[in-house]
Amino acid sequence: MNTYFLSNQDVIDLISVTECIGVIEKLFANIQKTQMPPKVYMEIPDGDFRSMPAIVDNTAGIKWCGVHLDSTKKKRKCNIFAKVLINQVDTAAIRTAAVTGVATKYMARQDSKIAAFIGCGNQTRSQVEAVCHVLDIEQVRLFDLDEDRCRQVAVSLIMDGVDVVPYTDLIDCVKDADVITTLTPSRTGFLKHEWLKDKVHINAVGADAEGKRELSPCVLENVDLVVYDNWEQCSHSGEIQYTPYYEKKQDWFQLADIVSGKLPREGNQTLFDATGLAIEDVATARYIYDKKENLLGM
Ligand SMILES: NC(=O)c1ccc[n+]([C@@H]2O[C@H](COP(=O)([O-])OP(=O)(O)OC[C@H]3O[C@@H](n4cnc5c(N)ncnc54)[C@H](O)[C@@H]3O)[C@@H](O)[C@H]2O)c1
Repeated sequence: MNTYFLSNQDVIDLISVTECIGVIEKLFANIQKTQMPPKVYMEIPDGDFRSMPAIVDNTAGIKWCGVHLDSTKKKRKCNIFAKVLINQVDTAAIRTAAVTGVATKYMARQDSKIAAFIGCGNQTRSQVEAVCHVLDIEQVRLFDLDEDRCRQVAVSLIMDGVDVVPYTDLIDCVKDADVITTLTPSRTGFLKHEWLKDKVHINAVGADAEGKRELSPCVLENVDLVVYDNWEQCSHSGEIQYTPYYEKKQDWFQLADIVSGKLPREGNQTLFDATGLAIEDVATARYIYDKKENLLGM
């Protein structure tokens, strides 16, 4: 392999969220061709550093990532700093959003019209794009504890045929929503089951480390279908890290089984627990590398 250093902007120019959805869908349909030991975490006072090695087909790589919990971002523009070393690329929020896109495509009801996003940080724009790509969404609702940030993100999201509405009340934002995506570094379960529609799909993305959670226990207790990206990671770092829900493992499924068609999508209230997998980074980085080489005529 040749060596390239690709900046964030290079990556954004080489791959779109919609293109990445195809990469992630193919990855989960062929998960038997991958190897991935659990992430290694090293804690720091306001977050953690983590290393994420994986092999996808014949490409080996590792993501090196620092995640800070400072949601005020007084000192820095973003709270996640990541590099993927197969060829030095940072896939930024694109791959995370693409995974949400794939889970939403397979798990949400196809007639979904209202999508709510809780947390208006660095991940949000790509997440909105991914959900709107796989469903015919008419209204995007946004909520953030920081009302100014919520309004700013709403104003900056301009999409044909989609009404983007900032909310100042969480319950108003999620009630009647067909798809809810949570994108905060919260350590308290704030989303309650009693606020949810009878038919709803939730993407729980924010909890990706020990101690983080966005869903109240009643959500996990009452939804019909729980799907995780990877059992070892989710039971350590995702929404399902809190006992006694571990015992329910046999009733829960991994996303790869749904995408590959081994299991049907069943249930009116569905939940996808995402912690972010190294195989997603390596597959996306490999796709970008190949595209770069093609563009250079190599
Ligand atoms: N699962 C994955 O694969 C994956 C990948 C990337 C990031 N993440 C996680 O997603 C979360 C968001 O990442 P980011 O980069 O967008 O963070 P960010 O710091 O840029 O934005 C977080 C936003 O959430 C808001 N917020 C905090 N608590 C809230 C609450 N209780 N209710 C509503 N809003 C709240 C903050 O005001 C902020 O605007 C982080 O926890 C991050 O670690 C997960």
